[in-house]
Amino acid sequence: MSTPLDTLARPITLGKLDLSSRFVMAPMTRKRSPGGVPTAENAAYYRRRAEHGVGLIITEGALIGHPSASHEDDVPRLTPGPAEDGWRLVTSEVHAAGGRIAAQIWHLGSERMPAETAWTPDNININGFDQLLQAYAQSARVAAGAGFDAVEIHAAHGYLLDEFLWPHTNHRSDRFGGGPKERATFPAEVIRTVRDNIPEDMPLIVRFSQFKERDYAARIADTPTELGDILGKFAEAGADVLHASQRRFWEPAFAGDPANLAGWAKRLTGLPTITVGSVGLDQTRLADLAKHDADLVALGRVLITNPDWVTLATTGRDQEIRPYRKADEDIYH
Ligand SMILES: Cc1cc2nc3c(=O)[nH]c(=O)nc-3n(C[C@H](O)[C@H](O)[C@H](O)COP(=O)(O)O)c2cc1C
Repeated sequence: MSTPLDTLARPITLGKLDLSSRFVMAPMTRKRSPGGVPTAENAAYYRRRAEHGVGLIITEGALIGHPSASHEDDVPRLTPGPAEDGWRLVTSEVHAAGGRIAAQIWHLGSERMPAETAWTPDNININGFDQLLQAYAQSARVAAGAGFDAVEIHAAHGYLLDEFLWPHTNHRSDRFGGGPKERATFPAEVIRTVRDNIPEDMPLIVRFSQFKERDYAARIADTPTELGDILGKFAEAGADVLHASQRRFWEPAFAGDPANLAGWAKRLTGLPTITVGSVGLDQTRLADLAKHDADLVALGRVLITNPDWVTLATTGRDQEIRPYRKADEDIYH
């Protein structure tokens, strides 16, 4: 009998990109890149996951080259020069192990930034929009130049692009604010800009969520129609894959229908989707993956603790899987 894990262990093609499995490593900030430059240690960390059956790695959030993106010094940047060289080492190590890797492009907006200097939807002017689009364009070119196979735009969890989508942090009355379609205007411009700065056949993933790190009950869309308005603009702007971030993949996205957020994204746009959220944390829930309509499944915390989680879970070695503990985030191997 074939299990959801057997299905996930099979290859899949995204556009022209061949993946050895449908397991994805979820993007996870690790703060191990001094001066924003990825290191040989970072390359070995990602390579280890590729060696163990992860079909597509999505890097930790990598910052666009704009001073407002973040103040963190140990978060990697996606900028020309030493950071681009560091990423080239990361991508070549992952490729040597037969893996594929996407760069997650990140701007924090006002999340974890001092209020006086933070850029948020409400305080960005026309000149600011231009600067941001130029920085996103540069990061896209750096990603392509550094050998990445795909890019993912971070538009989830309450960071800059998600702040545009969320009515609570977007009070604009110009074309960037209003209903769901208008709130999606700037994120869609970023998608279009990134699309225009990567090779035509390079998959462009967009990650979105209802919840915010600062508010788990928050929503960008109260109804499937509103979600369709937002995701329709993403698709029109050039998104190829939608990464629907949830805290628990088995939770329905809207009342009255068991479909999760990825299921709705696929139903509303027809695009391939990635589901995520506590996969493998509770082994008894793994079978539920078969009930949800997602092409790819991302794993976060279980891969921090077990670089070899996919190998262990797909070869019946469950008893060797170490349970994730928060303290594991201090370890880097
Ligand atoms: C240490 C850590 C860092 C994270 N950093 C990011 C990030 O940089 N970008 C992002 O989109 N999500 C980030 N996330 C969220 C994960 O990608 C993922 O969605 C979340 O951990 C849920 O999946 P899991 O239950 O399999 O861990 C992070 C999560 C953790 C635990």
